[in-house]
This record gives sequence, structure tokens and C-alpha cells, in this order.
Amino acid sequence: MKKIQLKDKVFETYLTAAQIQTRIQALGTQIDTDFAGQEVVLLGVLNGSFMVMADLVRAIHIPLTCEFLRISSYQGTQSTGKIETVFGIGQSMEGKNVIIVEDIVDTGTSMAFLTQFLAEQKPKRLAIATLLFKKEAFLHNYALDYVGFEIPNKFVVGFGLDYDGLGRNFPDIYQISTL
Ligand code: IMP
Ligand code: MG
Repeated sequence: MKKIQLKDKVFETYLTAAQIQTRIQALGTQIDTDFAGQEVVLLGVLNGSFMVMADLVRAIHIPLTCEFLRISSYQGTQSTGKIETVFGIGQSMEGKNVIIVEDIVDTGTSMAFLTQFLAEQKPKRLAIATLLFKKEAFLHNYALDYVGFEIPNKFVVGFGLDYDGLGRNFPDIYQISTL
């Protein structure tokens, strides 16, 4: 098992780049099937989703456009529960098939805010894709349409996910070490 240190915390390998790729390919195939003959907007939530976005869009073969927005609710390893939209999308989502792309859904509060915000723009269909889902931490009851992995309620880094800005560059995902 590979261990890495970021600031005061030690992390150990949890999901390999190969496992991640296999799941992202499968999600792409599912999206191709579900939206066959239609066009979709993949809406990435920055910063964390940039790697998932890059791989997921390449796994989808129906016509698509990419948009990004940024929200913020995390500091260190604890969700602050406060959400601020820092910058928004450049086009209206009205009448479009929108798939929100996240690296992780934890308490689900960010995604709840985002779906509410986007629903006001009256998209034709609004779906959620997330690479990781911390089911035990989830405080809401809306459905997640495309989930890569359900993971335990432990802090993870890598593949876009950070600890105070660090660790996003790792191709694998690491879980916080309890030792
Ligand atoms: P939520 O609102 O609690 O679902 O938090 C979602 C956001 O918190 C994600 O988009 C991530 O940016 C961040 N986050 C949640 N859990 C983790 C984690 O384990 N590692 C890194 N970032 C996380
Ligand atoms: Mg995020």
C-alpha cells in the first residue's frame, strides 16, 4: 500500500487510476444510452471535478457541451455547510439536458443548493453524476443518477480532490490513514 503525506495528514491508496477509469467508462456508456439521440450539457463543479470532467466527456459519444461553475463549502477536512456561488455559467440551461458533474457528494448540501439553483433555469432534464458518494454522510434524500463509487465516510484526496488545495494531481485516490 502506498502512503503519502500532505501537510499534517497521512493518506493511503484507496482507488487506483485503473479502477477509476473503468467506472468512468461505464458511466459514459450509461449516459450515452440514457440520452441517446439527444444533446447534453456537462456542468462541472470546480475545482474538484476537473479530472472527472476530462475523462467523463471522453467516455461520452453523444453531442455535448461543457460548462463549469464554482461553489464553495469546504475548509480543511470539515464541511462548513455554508455555500457561496463564486462564479456561474455562461449560458442559460433552459430546455437543456443538464448533467451536473461532481468529484464527490458528501453531506449533499452543495448539490442540493446547485440543483435548486439550476431547476430555476428550467432545464429539460437535470441529472447528477458524481465519482464518489459518501452515503453515510448524506443529509438529503434526492437521487443521484450516476455514481462511480459509494465510499465510507472518510476524507479522500487525489484525482481532483484536495486537502487544503493539495493532492488534486494524484492519478489515484487516497483515503485518510487512521494510524
Ligand atoms: P457536501 O456539500 O458536503 O456534499 O460537500 C461537497 C464538496 O466538499 C465536494 O464537492 C468536495 O469539494 C468537498 N469534499 C467532500 N468530501 C471530501 C473529501 O473526502 N475530500 C476532499 N473534498 C471533499
Ligand atoms: Mg467539489
